[in-house]
Amino acid sequence: MDFLRRFTRQISFKPSQSLHEEILPQFTLKEVAAHCTIESCWMVIRDKVYDFTEFIEYHPGGYELMLEYAGADATNAFDEKPHTIEANDMLDKYLIGVLVKQDRMITK
Ligand code: HEM
Repeated sequence: MDFLRRFTRQISFKPSQSLHEEILPQFTLKEVAAHCTIESCWMVIRDKVYDFTEFIEYHPGGYELMLEYAGADATNAFDEKPHTIEANDMLDKYLIGVLVKQDRMITK
């Protein structure tokens, strides 16, 4: 299991991973911060912006854990918890955009 976790992390932090910023809307951290409730729950993971409003209630780790990061950057929280490749694959479904360049942590 530890091996799987390390492997997942390596994939997620691949520097070559594209943000597809040319086709996706761009948001500031301030805009993301306005969506910090269970009714509208946006989050940033690895410089990408996600709308998890439809998912938060069904999170296997409970909605409370996710709510702590609603409207904020959840990159470290997401990677530090035991998330499988399947959980990583689920992210795409909720992708709504990318962060503006100035607010990015990983991909400059
Ligand atoms: C935002 C911060 C997040 C935190 C702190 C967090 C925390 C956790 C924790 C502690 C568990 C383990 C629950 C258990 O074993 O009882 C878990 C499981 C899980 N989480 Fe999250 N989670 C977060 C976001 C997400 C997101 C954004 C997704 C997917 C869209 C997600 C998908 C899952 C899935 C599918 C599982 C079940 C185990 C697996 O397949 O990896 N989580 N989460």
